[in-house]
Amino acid sequence: MENLFIRVDEREFGPVKLAELRELVKQGSFSKTDFIWSENLDEWIPAEQTIELQDLFDPANGNGHATYQKKIYAVASGKGGVGKTIFSSSLGIGLASMGQEVIMVDADFGGANLHTCMGMLEPELTFFDFYTLQKDSLSDVVIDTPVDNLRMISGACGTLGLANPKYTQKQRFIRELKKLQADSIILDLGAGSGFNTIDFFLLADEPIIIMTPEPTSIYEAFGFIKVCLLRELKRRLRGHADVVEILEREEINRPNKTVLTIGDLLADLQKINPEAHEIFEKTLDDFQPKLVLNMVKSRDEISEGQAIQAAALDLLCIKLDFLGYISYDPKVGEAVKAMKPFLLDSPKAKASQDLSALIRVNLLGKSGFREILERRRWRKHLESYSENYPEHNILDDAAICSVKCFYWGDCEYQDGGAPCRVRHLEPVLRQRITTV
Ligand SMILES: Nc1ncnc2c1ncn2[C@@H]1O[C@H](COP(=O)(O)OP(=O)(O)OP(=O)(O)O)[C@@H](O)[C@H]1O
Ligand SMILES: [Mg+2]
Repeated sequence: MENLFIRVDEREFGPVKLAELRELVKQGSFSKTDFIWSENLDEWIPAEQTIELQDLFDPANGNGHATYQKKIYAVASGKGGVGKTIFSSSLGIGLASMGQEVIMVDADFGGANLHTCMGMLEPELTFFDFYTLQKDSLSDVVIDTPVDNLRMISGACGTLGLANPKYTQKQRFIRELKKLQADSIILDLGAGSGFNTIDFFLLADEPIIIMTPEPTSIYEAFGFIKVCLLRELKRRLRGHADVVEILEREEINRPNKTVLTIGDLLADLQKINPEAHEIFEKTLDDFQPKLVLNMVKSRDEISEGQAIQAAALDLLCIKLDFLGYISYDPKVGEAVKAMKPFLLDSPKAKASQDLSALIRVNLLGKSGFREILERRRWRKHLESYSENYPEHNILDDAAICSVKCFYWGDCEYQDGGAPCRVRHLEPVLRQRITTV
């Protein structure tokens, strides 16, 4: 069975090699209820009825998630509010809809909000339970989301001390993170260049930076990339104190500007310290963060992605991988207000289309017939999740406006009998106070 013809969602593809089909099964793009063309019977039959293919669906053979890919994505930015959480949740939903087991981790310890973005106002367990040792392992605080295959670890917003975990706590977190059982683990990081954020960014297999086309965002994204690179260089070159000293000077004096060009330093090192030169060069090769430009309002702005790519190559000697852009779209703000993941609230919106293509084609490298298969499956799953996603209306629990209200005399919204538009947050906030 080398050259197979397959049918998924009424569309036919082929010839497909057995190895390719194995890969599609692993990624969740082809399931046992999809069809294979049978030469003998001269008709399409469900793949599960094809004896030669049964091992493809056997969990013991590495399919059906007996083994996990365990790829860690980290989503960071220099400036805050540029779309990290929107991107992280969309990536999580997208990968889950492709059949992967996904865990999203709200690693923005100072301002956790991934759960609200998913419409989960009061997660029953949060990172706080792990942090305070009420739960031993990180896997104990993983909770389900309304999307199949997608689970999450919710952050614990507004809890003193959590924003900057100490070194030992960070090490415990990293150890536990690596033990999580999932194909993809997505870290939604906090803004800025704190050591914890940098370290989580550097441990990822796929480090992703989100920036917008505004000068401050570009400036801070470049600064973030630079401090991450310097930290990684220092870590790998810790046996060469003289080189570390030069790097530290650069780090302290000019966080966002580059006096020292990495190229010059590299050339000097080649002459005076070949061993350090080799480590340095290898680090530059290995450090290839990916870049996403969000909230793009015009075609001109797309060039900012290429501009920062060129600056990183010139000044830092690293290859930034510009994944593409996401349009500015007011539907994103509407989804945030409705507390529904954007990709599910408006699956057909321009920014959803951008996000979907960027993730599938540029991040995951799907092309050809695989891309067509993924696109169809992706769209189908998104539509069905969207229809069934729990709706939130915080006005549902709000107090009812009445003339008896203490504030009635001063209230400009007097609307007796309707949900109160001023005190509607109280039920939500009161719950939060009692659970923290
Ligand atoms: N493509 C877009 N089009 C329009 N608005 C957007 C877009 N992406 C994000 N936004 C808006 O930006 C806001 C911030 O997005 P998000 O919370 O994902 O940013 P963040 O980088 O995670 O912020 P923080 O640094 O505070 O964690 C959203 O509430 C949304 O209103
Ligand atoms: Mg965020």
